[in-house]
Amino acid sequence: MATGSMVGATMADTPAAPQTDAHPAAQSCLVQNYGRQDIRFVRGEGCWLTDDQGRRYLDAFAGVAVCALGHAHPALVETIRRQVGVLVHTSNHYHIVEQERLAAAIVAGAFPGRMLFCNSGTEANEAAYKVVRLWGNQVHAGRKTRMLAFHNGFHGRTLGALSITANPAYREPFAPLPAAEFLPFGDLAAVRAACADDVAAIFVEPIQGEGGVNVAPSGFLTGLRELCDRHAALLVIDEIQTGVARTGRMYAHQHDGVVPDIMTLAKGLGGGVPIGAVLYREHCAALLKPGMHGTTFGGNHLACAAGLTVLEQVGKPGFLARVATAGERLAAGLRRIFPGKQVRGRGLLLGVQLDQAPAALVTAARAEGLIVGPSGNNTLRIAPPLIISDAEVDDLVARLERARGRLG
Ligand SMILES: Cc1ncc(COP(=O)(O)O)c(C=O)c1O
Repeated sequence: MATGSMVGATMADTPAAPQTDAHPAAQSCLVQNYGRQDIRFVRGEGCWLTDDQGRRYLDAFAGVAVCALGHAHPALVETIRRQVGVLVHTSNHYHIVEQERLAAAIVAGAFPGRMLFCNSGTEANEAAYKVVRLWGNQVHAGRKTRMLAFHNGFHGRTLGALSITANPAYREPFAPLPAAEFLPFGDLAAVRAACADDVAAIFVEPIQGEGGVNVAPSGFLTGLRELCDRHAALLVIDEIQTGVARTGRMYAHQHDGVVPDIMTLAKGLGGGVPIGAVLYREHCAALLKPGMHGTTFGGNHLACAAGLTVLEQVGKPGFLARVATAGERLAAGLRRIFPGKQVRGRGLLLGVQLDQAPAALVTAARAEGLIVGPSGNNTLRIAPPLIISDAEVDDLVARLERARGRLG
């Protein structure tokens, strides 16, 4: 069988392609649903990545805020190696000790409740959404049908999660979706005006990671909590990007002292091993009965062992404070090199408001050996591994300054 790049030649007369052989997009066997940067990473160590040309890059994006411990962290490598040699997968037909332990560790650092595991962020939000439906259909006899969410919010690409994601470019090609109402992020008066007893849930991110690194203003999450209590609606906080120490607290809603009914996690939790998770308070957890929801892979031995190691590392004394100080140092550097521009975010999830789309700056940064990414239309997003050192923060800022210089 010929691959796309081998059209006109047989396997026998074609030398084996090197692993990193470049395939023009048009000939690739991959669906072209990503706008990929022209780069092929082959290894990583700490905050550094190496490409197939041997070039090293400082990684200030961490695989979209995933690699909390950086690349090839010795503790995570050791756990994954050990677990692969013991047991990778059995399924949720059986008790999974690593899953029980990870659930207990998440609950201990968050709020009392019960965990459900899956494989990604969007799946976590699907599982949250389904319990919201049970809340409306069973507990409130079908009287709660309305879902509230926010402009510039992002909750995932499957149909349920997409239905509460505002961006029309993501939604419209896949209509019809379940109904949701979108309100201005941070505008408590607008939410108050929209809230009534037929609202089943409010879905919110503490910081809108994909929609521009917008931080919920002080009092916003508390206000949502009060409205949910008043109208018996569920408060679902999506911590998929902000959770697991990224903002200098274990979970970002803890900055505001609120407790959601449901919290969703993914990204940083596995340190790069795919995992998603939902923490439900008991009144929500109790609604899911055997057989009502499930996944084959969710919470398997390998993913949960990885998650436990990530939590162990970020739970070490001083780790959260270190994320906060590294974030402050980074924010100060960004303010210095982008005078007059808004620098938003918390901990090591930061955004710089630009006057134009960040694509050119992302490309220029790559030329300076720095990996950064976009958020929303005009925001540069910086989300390095949480283990970044002060020297690496300074290096990051210096590279970004040179990148900005390249654009004139
Ligand atoms: C806040 C938030 N929710 C949900 C998701 C979807 O997660 P996944 O891509 O793992 O499905 C993302 C991904 O960027 C996210 O940032």
